[in-house]
Amino acid sequence: MLSGSELWLLRLMADRGLALLDGGTVVILIEERGELRMGACRGEQAASLRIAPVEGTALGALYRAREPLALDRPRGQEAAWLHELGLQARSALVEPLKMEGYGGGLVIAVRADGGFRRHDRESLQAFAASVAQRLAAERSVEIERIRHGIQARERERTRWAREIHDESIQGMGALRMKLASARDLDDAAALKDAVEAVLEGLGHEIDGLRHLITELRPAALDDLGLQAALQALARRAQAIDRLDVSVEMELGAAAGASDSADGEGRRLDAELESTIYRVVQEALTNVGRHAHASKAIVSITERDGAVHASVTDDGRGLPGLERLGPRGDGLEGGFGMSGMRERAELVGGELQFGPAAGGGTTVRLVVPLAGRPNAAVEEPAAGASAP
Ligand SMILES: Nc1ncnc2c1ncn2[C@@H]1O[C@H](COP(=O)(O)OP(=O)(O)O)[C@@H](O)[C@H]1O
Ligand SMILES: [Mg+2]
Repeated sequence: MLSGSELWLLRLMADRGLALLDGGTVVILIEERGELRMGACRGEQAASLRIAPVEGTALGALYRAREPLALDRPRGQEAAWLHELGLQARSALVEPLKMEGYGGGLVIAVRADGGFRRHDRESLQAFAASVAQRLAAERSVEIERIRHGIQARERERTRWAREIHDESIQGMGALRMKLASARDLDDAAALKDAVEAVLEGLGHEIDGLRHLITELRPAALDDLGLQAALQALARRAQAIDRLDVSVEMELGAAAGASDSADGEGRRLDAELESTIYRVVQEALTNVGRHAHASKAIVSITERDGAVHASVTDDGRGLPGLERLGPRGDGLEGGFGMSGMRERAELVGGELQFGPAAGGGTTVRLVVPLAGRPNAAVEEPAAGASAP
């Protein structure tokens, strides 16, 4: 399927082709899995065709010929593909699209009255080459973005798998052994004690799994919003790591943005809320694990059309840069810091790690709001064709 940004690009290119040829109609068809799909049709006429199979159609035959073609007053068999497109033509130009590593396509220009000049054929040829080039570039960016996302998800799953294995499975394995040896006990009192111990252990395991589930997808984030979810994280850090965490959140009340019922400021879009939540979660985990800190401050504010989220601790500071790799991502242990950066980049933001005033560490996330759903920033005028 052609993606939204590919379609947008093709439409833009078709408009450019139209300007180049001084009018008429320009059509771009892209082949995918044995079908020719309408990428863009701009100009005087509107093509009625959306998709045509390559096999068994005149358009498909035209595509498979992979040859430039110029027709004047096309008739009969010659004009069959024009009928399939639903276009009237006194004259028509065809250029094949050649894309390395992909299916190809066709660029077609028609005039309902009047002909093309020799010069137009050359223009269309150069135009087809630039369409192919731009589309291939767009696709490789798209593929890179998807690959990036998949890798990040895979890493996260690995982390959860490890956590479930290390925490729950091993714990339950120990309980099973305890029960198995209790089975052979003759002494009723000892048996009862063993069962009690196993029951208590199971209670711990259930609590642990509950925590894991909350971390996997915090219900608070969906139901109560970012602030409540961050408060829950803070309480957790307090309970587990004895860390005094305060949460400061100040988002501007945006025009057109949805206010939460209790008036605690507006909601950001779901993707951005999860990104902020995950970054804060990982940063707090690091504070608990590495910083030897007593306090941490989580701050979410909105400034200059961007959301700024930071986690600052009063701990011993980051280890020397030589241990954190070229991007400061951390090479020692897990993927925590590079994972945070990846998340930031996936929403078009930036992540920085650095020393905090008075020792300690600050992790800072900045995400521009322009173009996001619920954004406080002015939206483009209605009808503007944004990608
Ligand atoms: N708040 C912090 N204070 C001190 N050191 C930190 C802090 N956050 C991260 N670090 C250091 O950066 C390293 C990399 O962190 P991370 O990428 O999250 O991996 P992991 O937590 O699995 O070790 C940590 O091992 C630790 O040495
Ligand atoms: Mg970590």
